[in-house]
Amino acid sequence: MRGFWFLATLGLAAAEDGLNAWLRYARLPDEIARQATVPPAIVALNTTESSPVYSAGQELRSGINGILGKKIDVSHEISEGGSVVVGTIAAFNESGISVETPELEEDGFWLSVKNDKVEIVGQNERGALYGAFEYLSMLAQANFTEVAYATNPSAAIRWINQWDNMDGTIERGYAGLSIFFANDTVLSNMTRVAQYARLLASIRVNGIIVNNVNADVTLLSDENMAGLARIADAMRPWGVKVGISLNFASPQTFGGLSTFDPLDDTVIAWWNNITDKLYVQVPDMAGFLIKANSEGQPGPETYNRTLSDGANLFARATKPHGGVVMFRAFVYDYQNLNESNWKDDRANAAVDFFRGLDGKFDDNVIVQIKYGPIDFQVREPASPLFAHLKQTATAIELQITQEYLGQQCHLVYLPPLWKTVLDFDLRVDGEKSVIGTDILSGKRFNKTGLTGYAGVVNVGHNATWLGTHLAMSNLYAYGRIAWDPTVNEVAILEDWTRLTFGLDDTVRETITRMSMESWPAYENYTGNLGIQTLTDITGPHYGPNPQSMDNNPWGQWTRADAFSIGMDRTVSNGTGYSGQYPDEVAAMFEEIETTPDNLLLWFHHVPYTHVLKSGKTVIQHFYDAHYAGAETAASFPEQWSKLRGLIDQQRFDEMLFRLTYQAGHAIVWRDSINEFYNSLSQIGDDHDRVNNHPYRIEAENMTLTNYRVTAVNPFEVASSLRIVQSVGNSSATSASATLNYTAGVYDLAVAYYDLYEGKASYELFLNERSIGKWIGDNEDRLGFTLTRGIDGHSATRITFKGIEIKEGDVVRVDAKANGRETAPLDYIAVLPPGVVD
Ligand code: GCU
Repeated sequence: MRGFWFLATLGLAAAEDGLNAWLRYARLPDEIARQATVPPAIVALNTTESSPVYSAGQELRSGINGILGKKIDVSHEISEGGSVVVGTIAAFNESGISVETPELEEDGFWLSVKNDKVEIVGQNERGALYGAFEYLSMLAQANFTEVAYATNPSAAIRWINQWDNMDGTIERGYAGLSIFFANDTVLSNMTRVAQYARLLASIRVNGIIVNNVNADVTLLSDENMAGLARIADAMRPWGVKVGISLNFASPQTFGGLSTFDPLDDTVIAWWNNITDKLYVQVPDMAGFLIKANSEGQPGPETYNRTLSDGANLFARATKPHGGVVMFRAFVYDYQNLNESNWKDDRANAAVDFFRGLDGKFDDNVIVQIKYGPIDFQVREPASPLFAHLKQTATAIELQITQEYLGQQCHLVYLPPLWKTVLDFDLRVDGEKSVIGTDILSGKRFNKTGLTGYAGVVNVGHNATWLGTHLAMSNLYAYGRIAWDPTVNEVAILEDWTRLTFGLDDTVRETITRMSMESWPAYENYTGNLGIQTLTDITGPHYGPNPQSMDNNPWGQWTRADAFSIGMDRTVSNGTGYSGQYPDEVAAMFEEIETTPDNLLLWFHHVPYTHVLKSGKTVIQHFYDAHYAGAETAASFPEQWSKLRGLIDQQRFDEMLFRLTYQAGHAIVWRDSINEFYNSLSQIGDDHDRVNNHPYRIEAENMTLTNYRVTAVNPFEVASSLRIVQSVGNSSATSASATLNYTAGVYDLAVAYYDLYEGKASYELFLNERSIGKWIGDNEDRLGFTLTRGIDGHSATRITFKGIEIKEGDVVRVDAKANGRETAPLDYIAVLPPGVVD
């Protein structure tokens, strides 16, 4: 009873699972709602149910009802009295309402809110829907001001790429199985697909590629084409056009032809026929996405044809239907990269492949370029290819799914990273050429029409869409930035937080602060100074594994040895990559003195003792940054805890679990990277923290029952190089130690490894008192499988706060192995207040 009373007085929202994301339309408190003047009628100037204007009417009805508790019907004809009218400019004119709007571009809209008269005028139906979402966003944030303005998109292409496989798995997806596919077919239930389209429309995304760039031809079967029609039908009312990734070799592997040569007549005819069939099913299909001649994918080069020959093949097939081809610039030949050649460089690939092709692409081809020249790293310089394609339409590829950025298990708010590229001035021909506002807008090279944005998202069946609540700010921000790359990243967060968690100031300030701290912290505790993320390149791209970067042909090298580190990408002595930039930028990156510290190791190979502009050496910067980053991450659970009672319990608990996990994994990162470079360079930490953990009791030094001492791979993911694992996998194990600490209150942290294919159980005791129990079930709680190994992905740390300890107390972990999980233990840390070790 008491619990209920408490909830009622605090006015807490019911538990929320995240499904409605930022479109919750939560009821405003009465005293605020009372201040809103909302017209008594809604008029949607279209009666066709699949029309975005019709959706806009329905959305306005449910939104106003949710936010203000007012039930208003939707009609489709103008009547006397105040109303919210939504429609295209043509429909307004037809209805006899004269509206004077500034010039609207495709998908743009005009919003006028005046007393009991609201006009939402779209250049097209999509624009009208976007305007309705804008008005609802204002209401939901208790913004009842009168406004009158027009807004137009910065670019026409604002697409999503999903990397969904036909079997229902998702490449680099961290939120469950596909909402589109299962068992090599398109799902029949389109509920989530329609909900997704609604979310996308609200952030003004107008197209989506639904299947993986590593494309499976089975999508082209008759049955699956009919399935695509279902997807398109579910998304059309939200103005989201559907497109697909194609596999270049399909004429051979699926069509039974002897070739897939893009200039062969039978191949051309085959693709034309397939394309026509697709457009019968989906008459408004957006077009195709092509990954060719990259990472083992087939492409035109198999037949000595150019990449533009390949792109134009599809462009010509889809052109009569009004479609476009997104052709990826992520082309490189990983089999022929050789680190022993100082001049070899994967970063050179995109410009090398595409520079000579400018002007050779048909006008409905858009070259889709990842933001940096390698692959979605924690920091990369802007891709120089944006400077070379003057006569070719281009789009930037951003990654919302956090492949190299903590896979949604770490909070990392991405817009500050994206802005390093979007705000970068390439100075093409000595003139201002900012990537977002000048190049992607098409203005710099007078491109009309097709330029823009592609965001790799990979939502799954998880109710939170991306696997965790706070990651959704990245999706929201993506849409906002694609519409207007000058929008402030803090302002985006504030809007998102109010829409997602309500109007409380503490909630907004806390989430905004943590989010803004998150990418710098992540960069600090992973890869610094432009060396890339330092994750496991040949594995899941999640935990630390710096040695995996080198000695393989993937080309994400660091060239670290005992004395020095970094890729020499200068023209004078290195791979020549810096020379791919226009002169002013090339000159800046060519010299160590003018290269910013944060990209130093991207462009230069220097000794660990090289002194940065900050005055620190490279190695000391590594050490300090890792300590600073882990400390920031350690503050996240504390910051979040202040929100207890201010947001619903479900989302509070789910985020607290992840942020606590992140704080532990940030320490794994910190120690692994620091110990790896310490061991390689043999240079100590000025502050004597690295390899020196006075608050830890190593498991291998404890009194052990049924545990054996082992090494791990990579070595640096174990504190002091050793861990313990159970002898056999069924017996009960234990590790204990007598504490030699002055009496006081401490936090107890246990470092262990949580693999999938096993759920070991653990219990921590102080003397005979149980402090806590847990199970190695991150595979369930984080929602995807990280690793089968004892490594940097599985390394986990759990903390019990505020434990009273006396000298001579005995701390003990009792554990039971399960499956492949041998209850591996690394150490127990006994931490005085404020110590993160
Ligand atoms: C990365 C990613 C792959 C993906 C590829 C691409 O390498 O790890 O999963 O297929 O990029 O973007 O094509």
